[in-house]
Order: sequence, then structure tokens, then C-alpha cells
Amino acid sequence: MTPITSLDQTTAIKDLIASRRARIGIVGMGYVGLPLALLFCEAGFRVTGFDVDMRKVETLNGGGSYIVRIPATEIQVALDTGFNATEDYSEIATMDVVIICVPTPLNDYHEPDLSYVTGTVRSIAPHVYERQLIILESTTYPGTTEEIVVPLLEAGNPSGLKVARDAETPGFYVAFSPEREDPGNDSVARRDIPKVVGGCGPVAQNLASAVYEAIFNRTVRVSSPAAAEMTKLLENIYRCVNIALVNELKQLCMRMGIDVFEVIEAAKTKPFGFQAFYPGPGLGGHCIPIDPFYLSWKAKEFDFHTRFIELAGQVNLGMPYFVVENIVEAMSRQGKALKGSRVLVLGMAYKRDIDDLRESPSLTIIELLQKRGSQVEYNDPYFPSVGQGRKYALNMTCTPLELIPEFDCVVIATDHSHYDYQDIVTKAKLVVDTRNATKGITAENIVKC
Ligand SMILES: NC(=O)c1ccc[n+]([C@@H]2O[C@H](COP(=O)([O-])OP(=O)(O)OC[C@H]3O[C@@H](n4cnc5c(N)ncnc54)[C@H](O)[C@@H]3O)[C@@H](O)[C@H]2O)c1
Repeated sequence: MTPITSLDQTTAIKDLIASRRARIGIVGMGYVGLPLALLFCEAGFRVTGFDVDMRKVETLNGGGSYIVRIPATEIQVALDTGFNATEDYSEIATMDVVIICVPTPLNDYHEPDLSYVTGTVRSIAPHVYERQLIILESTTYPGTTEEIVVPLLEAGNPSGLKVARDAETPGFYVAFSPEREDPGNDSVARRDIPKVVGGCGPVAQNLASAVYEAIFNRTVRVSSPAAAEMTKLLENIYRCVNIALVNELKQLCMRMGIDVFEVIEAAKTKPFGFQAFYPGPGLGGHCIPIDPFYLSWKAKEFDFHTRFIELAGQVNLGMPYFVVENIVEAMSRQGKALKGSRVLVLGMAYKRDIDDLRESPSLTIIELLQKRGSQVEYNDPYFPSVGQGRKYALNMTCTPLELIPEFDCVVIATDHSHYDYQDIVTKAKLVVDTRNATKGITAENIVKC
């Protein structure tokens, strides 16, 4: 009998992927992991979703959804194809490919909090077996896969398995591939967003690319996990810095009596060398306000100070304060003080038409207004109530729009598309618009900032 070589085994994994018989495990059933699981299900794979949140596991297994843009019918279709969710890590041992999509926030000191990644890796390490492929998708600083993930997988494996960097060496395969989704942006289908892949060695690279080529139209191979990790950070830093630039220019334009939105629309007509970014009340979401600081932190290890990131952070973090100062000024022009006033904040989500309030500037604006003695309420069709989170404790319920006339000021913090802005302007005493949502509406009670 011919002995089975490692090379045969990698070919076998490729066959499993090509024939859709590979079992895919996705760890973290959140905004990234769940849609990814559904893409694999659609492509004909059997997928298991792992999560430590039992409510999510039970909801998914019961055919329900907890993400607004994913209808329950899609979960039901996935269940019919063999999808299941579990909190039981021993099932990792039955997966051919494991993809990690857990959170990577900052801690209270603005430093990377990798505890979700390290916790996940420690949990899966005992179940990892020869030739299994482990891919990290969580956004993180360059070096995480090689310096954190690989050593933890090796240390936690009871068989002493090591990462295999070529087809001849026994072990498991590891790669990094960043998630590049833009929630709420339906202009590009998810499968049309090229998938960047960096493997620990050429075999991991090939296998991870083969996995993603089953669900994405194109993969972009880079030479290492660190290059893939850095690619994701470059993309988000580019966005963060450019948003800071327009946020700063907005403040200057206001002093000069120029409409920054008109300027951006005009600049956008240039067919090359300019990409439009828009100012707002501050940065939100799990990516742009956070990811750049992963690199700032890592850069210090190399005696390097990332000045653009720090400056952009400073400008963007200052925006909710700028908005509140403008509310104070607009109200005083109407002869009112902020203290004791009633303010309605429209939009809790960090951007239009999504149900995500992580790092939302609306949270900071509400907190600042409350500190200054204002009675603040909110409206957001995506949030019937807002309780407590990592950095906030609001415990508020959504105020109906019919009550707008009762408020001294309405602040448009998020420009959800279902709002009737003409109606809001007509009913409100004062509208402070941070998103240019009232574009085209002329009324004396509108203040743009
Ligand atoms: N949300 C986005 O738009 C987006 C876009 C690109 C990249 N990312 C990155 O993707 C990663 C995941 O983000 P997300 O938005 O999906 O986060 P999320 O909070 O929506 O989901 C993460 C999930 O992981 C689960 N989890 C936490 N620890 C776990 C563990 N030890 N084992 C199993 N499950 C665990 C949580 O319960 C949660 O369901 C982050 O690194 C983020 O920066 C997010």
C-alpha cells in the first residue's frame, strides 16, 4: 500500500473544498461571521457557527436572526442546508476549515484588547488536528497571526502539533484574511469585494485562497499574514485620516461662511486624484475609530510615532464636542439655554440605515448634552430602546417623531433614509443638522454643523 504523504493530504483538502464537502466552522456569529457563514451555506458548504453567546446560538438554531439586514428566512434556508450553531468547541475537531471572526476592541487605555482572539484560540487549540486550516479574520495589528495565534495554537495542542509552513512538514495550516465588508453599503455585492489572503507559508496561502475562491469572485494573495493584516489597517487608516481632514475643513468652512458639502460635491467631479469623504458628528462603528490605534500601539515597539493616526483621532474625537458647542450657540440665538432644555437626537446608529451603535457619536453627544443639564431623548427606527454598553448607560426608549414640536432642538446625528426631513424641519423649533440631511430644504430653523 502506498503511504499517504502530506502532499496527498493537502490535495485531499483542496478536493474537499472544490467538491463542497469541506466542513466550515466560523467562530463569532456577529456582523462579520454570520453573513460569512451564510455565503458558505449558499455556495453549498455545511457550516457550523460557534459563539459564546447562547442567545445567539439559540436564535440561529431556531431559525431567527438578530441582525436587521439578515432576514430570518435566510437563516431558515441555511438551516435547511445543514447549518447549525453551537457553543461547544469540541465540534472544532470535525471542521476542515475554522475561520475566526471575534471582536478586536480597544481597552480603556486605547490599547488593543486581544482577549477575544486569545480566548477563542485557546478554546480551539485542544481540538486542532493535522492539516486543519485555521484563518483569522478579525482586524488586528501586523504580527498578531504569527506572534499570538500560532504560538497559542501550538502551546494548547495536546498532540504537540505545530504550524505547517510547507506540504512536507506535518502540522496544521494558518492564514490571515481581513474582512472588508462595509455595512449598509449595497453598491458592491459581498462576493465582488476581493479577498486579501496571507498564509503562514505557501500551502496555507493556497488552501486559504481556495476556500475563499469558493465564495468570492477574486482573491488577492500577499506574501505573509502580516502584509494582509497591514493591508486592512492601511484601508481603515486611509478612511480615518480623510474623514478627519474633511471634519477639520468643515470647521474652517463654517467660519468662512462656505458650505463644505457644496465644495465636496464640486471637487468630486474631478475624474482623477480625488475621492469624496464626508464630514459628520464623529466616527463610529467597530472599525474606523478603533483599528488605526492597533497600529499606533504596535508602532511604539519599533520606536515609531504614527502622527497622522494620532492627529486624525484627535480631530475625529473632538467632533461630538464641536456639535454640542454648535447646539449651545444655535439655542442661545433663539434666546434659550441648554440647561433645562429638551433635545431630541435623531439617529443612534453610527451611520445611515444600520442597526449598529458601537462607538456611535450619538452616544457621546447625548452624554455631553446630559452633563450640561439638557433633557435628552432619541429616535431611531432601529433601536426601540437603548440600555447599557461598554461605554454608555442610557436606559432610554425611542421617542416617537410626533412629539418633535415639544422639543427645543432636534439634532440630526444619523441621516437614516426613512426620515422625512421636510416634515421634521416643518415641525421642529430648531434643527441642528450634522449630516447635510436637510440638503435642498430652505428654512430659518436649520443650523448645519
Ligand atoms: N462589523 C464590521 O463592519 C466589520 C468590518 C470589517 C471587519 N470587522 C472586524 O471583524 C471582527 C468581528 O467584528 P463583528 O462586527 O462581527 O463583531 P460582533 O461583536 O458583531 O461579533 C463578534 C461575535 O463573536 C462572539 N464571540 C466573542 N468571543 C467569542 C469566543 N471566545 N468564542 C466564540 N464567539 C465569541 C460574540 O458573542 C459575537 O457574537 C472584528 O475584528 C472587527 O474589527 C468588522
